[in-house]
Amino acid sequence: MTLANNSQAAAADDRILRIENVVKRYGVVQALRGVTMSVRRGTIHGLLGENGAGKSTLVGIISGQVRPTSGQIFMDGQPLAQVDVKAMEQAGVFLVTQEPMIIDNMTAAENLMLGIWPTRHGLVDWKALQTDAQRMLKGSDIDANALAGQLDAVARRKLNILRAMFSGGKVIILDEPTAALTVTDRQQLFDFMRRLKAGGVTFIFISHYNDEILEICDSVTVLRDGNLAGNTDNVGTLTSMQLTELVIGRGVELFQRRRREHTGKTPAVSLSNVQGKSLFLERFDIAPGEVVGFTGLPGAGAKETARAIFGLHSASGTLSLNGGASVPLPDKPRTAFDTGIAYLSDDRRRDGAVGPMSIGENIALSSLPTRSTLGFIDSKDEASVIEYYFTTIGVKAPSADYAVDTLSGGNQQKVCLGRVLATKPRLLIVDEPTRGIDVGVKQDVLRIIDELSDTGVAVIIVSTDMDELVRAVDRVCIFEQGIIKETLAGDEITVERLRASVQA
Ligand SMILES: Nc1ncnc2c1ncn2[C@@H]1O[C@H](COP(=O)(O)OP(=O)(O)OP(=O)(O)O)[C@@H](O)[C@H]1O
Ligand SMILES: [Mg+2]
Repeated sequence: MTLANNSQAAAADDRILRIENVVKRYGVVQALRGVTMSVRRGTIHGLLGENGAGKSTLVGIISGQVRPTSGQIFMDGQPLAQVDVKAMEQAGVFLVTQEPMIIDNMTAAENLMLGIWPTRHGLVDWKALQTDAQRMLKGSDIDANALAGQLDAVARRKLNILRAMFSGGKVIILDEPTAALTVTDRQQLFDFMRRLKAGGVTFIFISHYNDEILEICDSVTVLRDGNLAGNTDNVGTLTSMQLTELVIGRGVELFQRRRREHTGKTPAVSLSNVQGKSLFLERFDIAPGEVVGFTGLPGAGAKETARAIFGLHSASGTLSLNGGASVPLPDKPRTAFDTGIAYLSDDRRRDGAVGPMSIGENIALSSLPTRSTLGFIDSKDEASVIEYYFTTIGVKAPSADYAVDTLSGGNQQKVCLGRVLATKPRLLIVDEPTRGIDVGVKQDVLRIIDELSDTGVAVIIVSTDMDELVRAVDRVCIFEQGIIKETLAGDEITVERLRASVQA
């Protein structure tokens, strides 16, 4: 055998998973147009692409949840005859979903065993398994006997990964796993992944954050419009800008708000004596056209204060808009909404888009009451409102008539934003507005918020994305223990400064 043949054989062995020419059609939508990709054993393989590029569809196919229209999957060089969840799990491929499938009133150890019992009826050595589970959890800083309901977000994420491994997982797929994690949690998850990788586990990792990809991935595959746009085995040599260009196929101009001074104006929003469970704000004003960031660790009060203003978090206190009379803080969203306050939740699964309805119906949903005169809806007006927001927000779908539940995650988020903007609020509150949104659209969303503020609307952005805060706000309030601990404005707002203040 020649040397070249040897290294070829080695290279082939190196690939634990290979997919060839995979196509997926949903009616007229071509989610994947013939994608080929290889994943090397014991690596972390990034999967990138704009919203709707086909990432979730691809990992759905690899994990057997989605049936491909055509194409082949190989594990360890062998083509798989059948591809369904059971076959893929037997082959060692597991998709760890965003919503951790964890049973709260069972212990961490019991949760680990959940994947085991159906496959080996009767012959399970429970005792040995229990010991294994205890050992595995110990190595991950999770108390085996803790009730799963008491575990924090990152521990739940780890528990899911461990469960996949415990059930024989060799290739573990994570679809945007960091979405609900703090910076510290994220580091913990990454350390955990690195340790597992050193032990031979392979990961496929989906994220919209360049810094995460650059930090943790060995190689990446980029999808664009269902096509393979690029592949590299050498992430170390890429810059963030190059990664962005690969993803969107052109250079992108990063949005930067021209920061405004807002002193001496009659406030658009005045809050007084806001008091609620672990929340206290004596006085807080926002000028017309001002964009204010609220940030802090989870539970520190940033999110809670924003929700209190919209009547979603119980608190006492008063509110005055545009120098008008002071009224009690809204006790429910309907009241807040009637006053001219709009709110975009970060939890689009619970408060987000309404699945079976169309994109257009979703956009019109919240604004309908304000635009109907004497109970009649002007349908011409409605159509133009829908068209305007459908286009401005850049929802990726053939038309506004498409059902929201067929859209990719990021596109659903855009529809939610369109719905909130269509209400033409006086105060707009957005919670993590670009979470799950691709790099290109992120700039568009920040630009839309910026333009809205130009018309005099006051904006609160609740965010833990420091880069987003630096680019989009005039002023940032850092919350701690329910109060504003520090305020930064103008040139003081830098990623370093924010990180230091939030962690301190
Ligand atoms: N069940 C379905 N019916 C119709 N179209 C679908 C269905 N599932 C996905 N699609 C379409 O397939 C395309 C790819 O969607 P997919 O969810 O894979 O994108 P994604 O890359 O994961 O995006 P995101 O970053 O927003 O999560 C989109 O155009 C989407 O609308
Ligand atoms: Mg997706």
